[in-house]
Amino acid sequence: RLPEYVKIVEVGPRDGLQNEKEIVPTSVKVDLINRLSETGLPVIEATSFVSPKWVPQMGDHTDVMRDIRRHPGVNYPVLTPNLKGFQSAIAVGAKEVAIFGAASESFSKKNINCSIEESLKRFDEVMKAAREANIPVRAYVSCVLGCPYEGKIAPAAVAEVASKMYAMGCYEISLGDTIGVGTPGGMQDMLRAVTKEVPVDALAVHCHDTYGQALANILTALQMGVSVVDSSVAGLGGCPYAKGASGNVATEDVVYMLHGLGIKTGVDLDKLTSVGSFISAALGRRTSSKVAQAMSKL
Ligand code: HMG
Ligand code: MG
Repeated sequence: RLPEYVKIVEVGPRDGLQNEKEIVPTSVKVDLINRLSETGLPVIEATSFVSPKWVPQMGDHTDVMRDIRRHPGVNYPVLTPNLKGFQSAIAVGAKEVAIFGAASESFSKKNINCSIEESLKRFDEVMKAAREANIPVRAYVSCVLGCPYEGKIAPAAVAEVASKMYAMGCYEISLGDTIGVGTPGGMQDMLRAVTKEVPVDALAVHCHDTYGQALANILTALQMGVSVVDSSVAGLGGCPYAKGASGNVATEDVVYMLHGLGIKTGVDLDKLTSVGSFISAALGRRTSSKVAQAMSKL
């Protein structure tokens, strides 16, 4: 019942670093992405083309994209909330982009300064431009298991936004537990609703580990047929517009669990943990990955 292969989407350089208080030097970001490129990861989300007034930490998006060494066989998608972001991303050679909406009206307002309906109109412009440029588009839906402003979110609300984004032409919909409040029962209910509208092959899960539920939630999703998992090396991350959100589930922990289940990822866990050590040292902090902590004691 479990998938044989799981595609891991590494979001550390974007989701991980966007929430750092001190501006991380561009050279560190580039070094991180280059090192991650050597670990066997198929997808590394590199940065986001958002407003530097909103997220100063991602203000060096153009330099990051220009300076990284693109490894053959690795995708380097970037976030583009609107046409302006899309055009800037394409101008520096982005080959894949992601739009990001939410299942919660209040979160949409706080995060991208518009209602869900308005966001879909903006995304439509991005989709049109992307189609013309032959650029695949991924989509995020935030707050699928809870919202920092509205609390519980109905599975039907998630299904509605996800199906609209899928119908717009997004090839993959990443379902985000933005603040990491979900538990496996909630994941199951939400996925039951979403898979009625969107084929399970087109779904990814994006779990933050605030309450330590991420691996359990991911396993639940795998058992329901999901085979794409977002994670962040060393468990970096959080969303600046979601107070209290901690990092994504650590990629090291996901890889360890998947390999333990006999599921292939293509990722070399030893190489990955050394990248985790590199970025943790650069940020002056201990890794959030349990697996990396355990392996460093062996
Ligand atoms: P706005 O202020 O409503 O936009 O922001 P606007 O169109 O009115 O423009 C205002 C100013 O921003 C103008 O500049 C624009 O040129 C500029 P001014 O004339 O004042 O000098 N601007 C831009 N600059 C650079 N790049 C752009 C861009 N667009 C407009 N693309 C906007 C709307 C969406 C831009 C803003 O709200 C924004 O940047 N939000 C970003 C929020 C963000 O990055 N959040 C974190 C990522 S989402 C996340 O982490 C969740 C996720 O991980 C999944 C999960 O965990 O659930 C994906
Ligand atoms: Mg996130």
